[in-house]
Amino acid sequence: MRITILDVQKMKARGERIPMVTAYDYTSAQIADRAGVPLLLVGDSLGMVVLGHSSTVPVTLDEMVHHIRAVVRGSERALVIGDLPFLTYTNVDEAIAATRRVIQEAGAQAVKLEGGVAVAPIVARLVELGVPVMGHIGFTPQSVHQIGTRVQGRSAEQAARLIEDALALEAAGAFAIVLELLPAPLAREITGRLRIPTIGIGAGVDCDGQVQVWHDLLGLYSDFVPRHAKRYASLAETIGAALASYVAEVRAGSFPTAEHSSTMDEAALRAALEQLRRQG
Ligand code: KIV
Repeated sequence: MRITILDVQKMKARGERIPMVTAYDYTSAQIADRAGVPLLLVGDSLGMVVLGHSSTVPVTLDEMVHHIRAVVRGSERALVIGDLPFLTYTNVDEAIAATRRVIQEAGAQAVKLEGGVAVAPIVARLVELGVPVMGHIGFTPQSVHQIGTRVQGRSAEQAARLIEDALALEAAGAFAIVLELLPAPLAREITGRLRIPTIGIGAGVDCDGQVQVWHDLLGLYSDFVPRHAKRYASLAETIGAALASYVAEVRAGSFPTAEHSSTMDEAALRAALEQLRRQG
């Protein structure tokens, strides 16, 4: 049985911290699911960490559907949340069409979309139609060309607007809200005012949960570590060393060995060669 948004709400009620991780394919979903990660986000960050774009802006709905399907196939227990990409929810009809693909076609159990007061009517309609919706405020990567990549909400005016955004999303029926790159005191204030959980990334210790990007968490970049991330492994180095050993062994002829090969009856091979010879 998969975790549901009701379970997520209970986690907040019990004061239980909520871990969320991004996943983009079958194998990583399987590893995360077996490790007990309750929430898997197929984030449009895949545009950057998987597809090599410089932002999430170019990510298409087709790409999201493709990756979400793989994550759904790889997981049994986690709640899978799929991002709606940039400009796929500019009005209610568009949002419904995009959500249909993410939920019905790809198999996610919830969608996430960016924005506060401005998208609240869209969130409300999706929720009314039975769709679990996660909000996302603060640094919203789809608006990178407008807001840059920086902590949001440091001024009184911005902080007040973000509190209003969070309250509007809750009133619209969102089941949780990602707070990205917010000053910790503001994230604490928002978390304290909401009944639904906040999931922070670069938003301090007082959020109800935390989300990290797979590649940041596991050290899949060889150099860059964002300030809000903690590396729990250095897989780029581990993988690089494994590949270098493989290359060296293939070059040296020490891989594969008989152990990695299969055999056949030598007589069958001789008969095949004889047959070819006779055919001319
Ligand atoms: O796309 C993504 O991975 C996200 C998280 C960083 C919250 O939105």
